[in-house]
Amino acid sequence: MNIHESPLTSFELSPPRWSGDALSLRFEMREQGLTAVPAAGDAFGAITVDLGSASVERRVAQGRGGLLAKALLPSADQPMPLVWDVTAGLGRDAMTLARLGCEVVAFERHPFLGLLLLDGHRRALLRDDATGEAARRLTVRIEDASDALSRVAQETPVDDQARRPDAILIDPMFPEGKNKAAVKKEAVLLRMLVGEGARPHEDEALLKAALEAARWRVAVKRPLKAPKILDTPPPQATFKGKSVRVDRYACQGRSIPNSRS
Ligand SMILES: C[S@@+](CC[C@H](N)C(=O)[O-])C[C@H]1O[C@@H](n2cnc3c(N)ncnc32)[C@H](O)[C@@H]1O
Repeated sequence: MNIHESPLTSFELSPPRWSGDALSLRFEMREQGLTAVPAAGDAFGAITVDLGSASVERRVAQGRGGLLAKALLPSADQPMPLVWDVTAGLGRDAMTLARLGCEVVAFERHPFLGLLLLDGHRRALLRDDATGEAARRLTVRIEDASDALSRVAQETPVDDQARRPDAILIDPMFPEGKNKAAVKKEAVLLRMLVGEGARPHEDEALLKAALEAARWRVAVKRPLKAPKILDTPPPQATFKGKSVRVDRYACQGRSIPNSRS
């Protein structure tokens, strides 16, 4: 029996307390990497983190014209920022920013998702291409970013550019969609795993903590028509795509990144 067939590489998880539906999920070590699959089978979706996926490539191809780049990158003559992605999920945004040249620390608080991300990162590090090179600018941390944000805000001087992130990205869970049938199976499975829908109080607290921690700017991804997470301060700028927008907040009185020598 080879490792891909071994029953030892798959096991079941108990249903999450927030889901009305029983979720029986297995982890399998497949050819493409560690994969989370519902016990009911792949027809109900499967999650493997692929940091070299077509969706990352599409975002990278937009270069400085993409929403994240517009919100988070300085002008081309400035050094690239250190970005904390405090809601890493499947790591697509984190990897896009690393591919564009940022140093990125990606935080994921859900341990199962964190392990999938860590496995995706490990495979990306083995590659001898732009994905591998960018993976070396990326660090994955399986922890709740709120703790790291308050630690850095309390313990580190505002101008400590070695330890403070220059910029922070927040991509909270979207509110439950009206048209569930239109949501991709992978997204449904992701929601079942980490919990359904938006949590406004948590999002508000995370944004406040990020504004305290970042040296320069904070960007928040939202569904196009969703309300702002905070009424004040207002975003400094908003960048709109077809279905999402990115609100950018300035961290008052703080300078753009200097060279990290
Ligand atoms: C919408 S997904 C992010 C998708 C991600 N931007 C991507 O490109 O794949 C939100 C993720 O943030 C995680 N999350 C939410 N709050 C967090 C926190 N305080 N610290 C770390 N992770 C958090 C959730 O577990 C979930 O996996």
